[in-house]
Amino acid sequence: MKTAVITGASSGIGYATSAELIQKGYRIIGIGRDKTRCEESEHLLNALSSNAKATILQADLMQQREVERVATEISQLLEQENENKLDVLINNAGCVRSWYTTTEEGYEQQFALNHLASFLLTYRLLPQLKRAQGRVIMTGSESHKHMRMHWNDLMLTRGYNPLTAYKQSKLANILFAKGLNERYLNDGITSYVVDPGLVCTDIGCKNTGGLVDWIWKLRKKHGCQPEVPAKTYVYLCETQPAPRELYYYFCKPNRYSCQVTHENADKLFAASEKLCGIQYPARIKT
Ligand SMILES: NC(=O)c1ccc[n+]([C@@H]2O[C@H](COP(=O)([O-])OP(=O)(O)OC[C@H]3O[C@@H](n4cnc5c(N)ncnc54)[C@H](OP(=O)(O)O)[C@@H]3O)[C@@H](O)[C@H]2O)c1
Repeated sequence: MKTAVITGASSGIGYATSAELIQKGYRIIGIGRDKTRCEESEHLLNALSSNAKATILQADLMQQREVERVATEISQLLEQENENKLDVLINNAGCVRSWYTTTEEGYEQQFALNHLASFLLTYRLLPQLKRAQGRVIMTGSESHKHMRMHWNDLMLTRGYNPLTAYKQSKLANILFAKGLNERYLNDGITSYVVDPGLVCTDIGCKNTGGLVDWIWKLRKKHGCQPEVPAKTYVYLCETQPAPRELYYYFCKPNRYSCQVTHENADKLFAASEKLCGIQYPARIKT
């Protein structure tokens, strides 16, 4: 049985993807933030088929000590059940904010959850991913295309704009995936980004307020159901041999920003390593 770890599996795109992968026979280890939604989604996923196996762990991935804790829990499960191998890691948990808010470490919350949590969790699960020659998939967004990284102020402390912070975190997702490919392709690990399109979920209404909440309630009505982008994750998990492009929309490669360069990926790795207190190996492929 293949195992997939999916962050943000308790609702929206992550839940729909978990449900699709369960139907394909995957064992799901999910992560969510809200305790009740974690319990409900675990129950629903396990009811999908007679041999379904889903565990949804609760953690606030914005906080690095929580990422470390849940990584240890996942490692223990993989050791007990799957010969210490991880076939797929989907870094999907994400948030939107209306104001400048920080984590325990003092990091801007969208950058902390949408990028740094993935950066740290992936690092901790690399030994298990290597053993399975696994795949790492990020949930990106088309909105990255209109963005540059603010290298001198990644937390956007000066003149904070929540939409800019969101777009920057989504550009970081692609730079991270590119950098992973350049470090681990020889280990058989491949990394991708899914652009889910506009999807009808509650992301813009969780811990937001004012304008962001109001705009999202109107905007999400035009979105597709989460089951639609879920197909692209399944495509990237299941296709043999592993697909070779970086960025996918509706199961097909798509264009991404010209900001996605080796140099910018290296810069993001260096900055994120400092912020997480870890060290990835240097890039091996150009
Ligand atoms: N919806 C769209 O149109 C759209 C478009 C482009 C990209 N995306 C991206 O898609 C991803 C999933 O979003 P969604 O639209 O499916 O929204 P969603 O339904 O709100 O799902 C977000 C998931 O992340 C989890 N999460 C939020 N904060 C967390 C935290 N601090 N620690 C751990 N887990 C946390 C949520 O847990 P709870 O259920 O407990 O809140 C939920 O499972 C995000 O990365 C988002 O940026 C969405």
